[in-house]
Amino acid sequence: MDQDVSARDRLEHWFAPCSDPAWHLVWSGYDAMREAQVEACFALSNGFIGVRAARPISRGPTWVTYQHHLTWASWPRTYIAGLFDTPNVVPPVPGLVPAPDWLRVKLWIDDRLLLLRSGELLAHNRVLDMRRGLLKGEWVHRNPAGHLARLEVLTAVSLADRAVATQFVRLRIEGGSVRVRLEASFESTGSALELVRARRESAVWHTAGGGKTLAIAARAGLIGRPTEHQSTAPLKWSWTWEQGPGEVTDFVRIAAFARGETNAGATERRAALGIARAEATGWSGVLAAHERAWAERWHSSDVEIDGDATLQQALRFAVYHLVSAANPDDERVSVGARALTGDAYLGHVFWDTETYLLPFYIFTWPEAARALMMYRYHTLPGARAKATRLGYRGALYAWESTDTGEETTPEKVIDTAGRLIPVLCGLEEQHIDADIAYAVWQYWQATLDDGFLLAAGAEIILETARFWASRAALEADGRYHIRRVIGPDEYHETIDDNAYTNIRAAWNLERGLEVVALLEQRWPERGRSLRTRLALEQPELDAWAAVARGLVRGQDAETGMIEQFAGYFDLEDIDLSAYLSRTVPMDVVLGRERTARSQIVKQADVVALLALLPDLFDQTAHERNFAYYERRCGHGSSLSPALHALVGARLGQVELAERYLHQTARIDLEASGVNSAGGVHIAALGGLWMATIFGLAGFRQHGEELALDPNLP
Ligand code: BGC
Repeated sequence: MDQDVSARDRLEHWFAPCSDPAWHLVWSGYDAMREAQVEACFALSNGFIGVRAARPISRGPTWVTYQHHLTWASWPRTYIAGLFDTPNVVPPVPGLVPAPDWLRVKLWIDDRLLLLRSGELLAHNRVLDMRRGLLKGEWVHRNPAGHLARLEVLTAVSLADRAVATQFVRLRIEGGSVRVRLEASFESTGSALELVRARRESAVWHTAGGGKTLAIAARAGLIGRPTEHQSTAPLKWSWTWEQGPGEVTDFVRIAAFARGETNAGATERRAALGIARAEATGWSGVLAAHERAWAERWHSSDVEIDGDATLQQALRFAVYHLVSAANPDDERVSVGARALTGDAYLGHVFWDTETYLLPFYIFTWPEAARALMMYRYHTLPGARAKATRLGYRGALYAWESTDTGEETTPEKVIDTAGRLIPVLCGLEEQHIDADIAYAVWQYWQATLDDGFLLAAGAEIILETARFWASRAALEADGRYHIRRVIGPDEYHETIDDNAYTNIRAAWNLERGLEVVALLEQRWPERGRSLRTRLALEQPELDAWAAVARGLVRGQDAETGMIEQFAGYFDLEDIDLSAYLSRTVPMDVVLGRERTARSQIVKQADVVALLALLPDLFDQTAHERNFAYYERRCGHGSSLSPALHALVGARLGQVELAERYLHQTARIDLEASGVNSAGGVHIAALGGLWMATIFGLAGFRQHGEELALDPNLP
């Protein structure tokens, strides 16, 4: 550990405040009701480790009452991407297992433990420095004996070496000399991890159900205070010293994390290598490399907005979390619905990643996009198994996916009225297949990464196309139909011929045929071997072409109007403007059943089609459909407003687009919201980027050409 006093000068550089407000988020005070949201929004992550921004002192889960239920206020959590386990409960839904809490610090001043609830809290500020990926905290506390403790805390998870995380605590005491005791430890966060073995400065655990392993190695020390520490237990250090007024003590901790399959020894060795790398560069080297890695990311992804400070900050916030969420070095994980910032959705991966996040990665960080696409390739066996289980061919991706690609959507949930309701998405929300194929194609079109197409992408497109061909059924009217599905609008279940699903499925089939032709033309050898492996013969390809041609698309040839699904236009038409003052989603206002019998849509559905496949529709169809569906959308999902901003902007409805952009920006950052307690809405953040770049800036790719057609406010 770097114990040099001059090290303090270097530490100053990272503690120094960042002067430009557009680059940081500030939260002052401590409000139990808002704490969980702050912890999520200010979270640090590098796509492997995710750390919520809970305070390190007087730390631990705390509870508040919310709508008459006890819920957590503070939820100190560190997540490790891909560390999934299925708890021994019914129903057995897998979820991310939290890592032991590595940030615990306890302080005693003259033998009195410093606690938030005793004494007086004079200042409590947190600053997220988004430019450098640093979380800074300041805590000024007067204890009952009248001593003033001034603490500054700095935490970072390295973007340069994803195994490594660091913590710094700087302590000053005012009001006389005192005896200080500092104890730093790791605390277990529940029973999901079982200890395999612990050494003085490392430990390895396995998940209780599946036996996956997690290892942590750590070092801790004080800067400029050569006190010997006592090691009272594994990964636990304590120091005692006398500190006079005006003196400064800095505590440093570095931890290295490794996740592995069942071989605990191998995982332990990787954590040991991680800590050895960190020790070799020293903590200042770790921070310097981290700062450089962030500078590089911002260099390729910063978005500058003139004249709208709120939107500027929201975009920085979006890019900050998008960069934090991905890991180009790990093809076995994807980004969960709340990234690594909270427990909501248990870390499960949805269509959100391909539809709302991938465009950002494709155009600013293709290596991250590739890893995310490879995750879908590695989970193809799970998708094949699901298609087979439901009686279809090819591959049907899980609506909610974890590490294996098996379907992990819970079969039932309790709704806001306390009723147990079945969740049909795992069975019926099948558009995810086309969303993934679309993402593969977008990635390849933008990067021309032929290696990926040949090794993985082509197979994904062919297997999903094959699914659709077996899924669609030829009926007496001579057309192909896809019945009993859920489109993006989840207020309407078990519907027939959802236009979004059918049009995307037809597109998927057409790309399947295009991939076959492309392989034949450019890589005949590879094409033949892939087709042999998949047993893909000409009659099957002819059938794909017939299905693509014959699928019902729900669009009226004369008016250009698209019916969201068969029978949608006959449903009750409810005027949403009568409900503007509501504070809950429309399905809660009207009840599930009435909502399902109405034309109110949960989120962009036909509008998503316009956003993603704009070239399929002419200007009149864009205008008419947008005007119709925009008025009927309840935005019951955080994914929704961004796509309305995108389509609105493309149509030149700039004021409306701006309104939706701000609505999206508020989802996590709104001062009164508690919605983000379970993690940031990463798809909405990706959507904000899409709406800005594809909508306001009017960026489009046409083959190898890039075009800009701005729609600026
Ligand atoms: C939305 C889905 C989304 C999921 C996870 C749901 O509320 O309707 O489209 O995939 O949340 O973000």
